[in-house]
Amino acid sequence: MDRRTFLSWVGVGALASSLPIVIIACSNSEDNSTGLEQNATEVKTNNFQMIGLASELDTKGVLVNEDIADKPVMVFRHPETEKLIALNPECTHQKCNVELNIKTNLLVCPCHDSHFALDGTAVKKPATKPLEVYKVKQEEHLIFVKVV
Ligand code: FES
Repeated sequence: MDRRTFLSWVGVGALASSLPIVIIACSNSEDNSTGLEQNATEVKTNNFQMIGLASELDTKGVLVNEDIADKPVMVFRHPETEKLIALNPECTHQKCNVELNIKTNLLVCPCHDSHFALDGTAVKKPATKPLEVYKVKQEEHLIFVKVV
């Protein structure tokens, strides 16, 4: 996906995330607003940001975004549990970006061959500190990450 396509999807995501707020603002019913208010509040107050589409993740196997925050973000599904995992792919040794190896279930640094478990734990030196892990969730067809 090129930058222009990604930015257009970010625009769609921003529109989609603001939709519950618009619906709440237009609603007169107190009964109908409760669930939508909670959903809108959760997205807004928890500072989750859209990183991409679930379909893109499932096609590519991994989403990497350098622009969503001050830190890069990598999202993938655990190969066995399908659980979403989001982390900072910068190796804690000298900041090369790690790569997902689904054959070994490891994140491998191409620079000096440090290995990390899929939960970010350093398992082979020279890196000794874990990768930074983020909260991640899927809502409908969109993937959201909370970068702190
Ligand atoms: S930068 Fe990753 S092992 Fe050195």
